Amino acid sequence: MPQPEPSPLPPLPPLPRLSGWPRWIAHRGAGRRAPENTLAAFRHGWQLGYRAFECDVKLSADGEPYLLHDDTLERTTSGQGPAAALDWAALSRLDAGAWCGSGWAGEPPTRLAALAAFANAEGLHVNLELKPLPGQAEPTGRTVAGAVRRLWHPGTPAAWLSSFQPPALAAAAAAAPELPRALLLDRLAPGWLAQAQALGCQGVVLDHRLVDTEVLHGLQAQGLACWVYTVNEAARAEALWALGVDRIITDTLGP
Ligand code: G3P
Ligand code: MG
Repeated sequence: MPQPEPSPLPPLPPLPRLSGWPRWIAHRGAGRRAPENTLAAFRHGWQLGYRAFECDVKLSADGEPYLLHDDTLERTTSGQGPAAALDWAALSRLDAGAWCGSGWAGEPPTRLAALAAFANAEGLHVNLELKPLPGQAEPTGRTVAGAVRRLWHPGTPAAWLSSFQPPALAAAAAAAPELPRALLLDRLAPGWLAQAQALGCQGVVLDHRLVDTEVLHGLQAQGLACWVYTVNEAARAEALWALGVDRIITDTLGP
């Protein structure tokens, strides 16, 4: 027998913890418009009008938090092979812009400390995705959370930490429990909502294809925010806003 459709969501007041967070979040700095996860991308996104940004953070071989999506270097830098092989001194000499176009050549990889300086200067809203290299979930969560605690000024919007890897979030929670956290999900395995709650998350970041009214009801009943990634079609974004998602991570939409 077909299940009845869940009733439409009643309007809810804005979640206080999201107060001030812009609706659109630029994926990897400025989406597809600039070399991902570089300061140049953040600057470009800022010029385009974005005031909230997502990026991917991992650790160099000597424990420096910096921005990189892949586990290997060749797609987005002038380096080759596993990122795990290089310390920050070696990483900092790579070119992280030329792959995106000659106009971006010379842009170096970005340390979290450099992003923090920009975030503090401009009051950016930043979602740091903990993107650990293999076997690095706990040190990445711990180190990034500790670094955010040191580097973000009290007046700067709190950085949200998110991850597909629960051990990274758990380590971040132990190191800096005051930082807001979100569980990233690309599928809804049994117990996903309980897992987000057990990690003390204030929200989840879902592949947008997972969202429906039942999922949103479940989240809202627990007081959890729902962010979605990565939405690049205006009609889909409109449908998601109408469903009641809280924030959209995008490569191409927004301001
Ligand atoms: O944080 C949302 C999104 O960035 C997760 O996927 O692979 O683009 O890091 P990915
Ligand atoms: Mg990401």
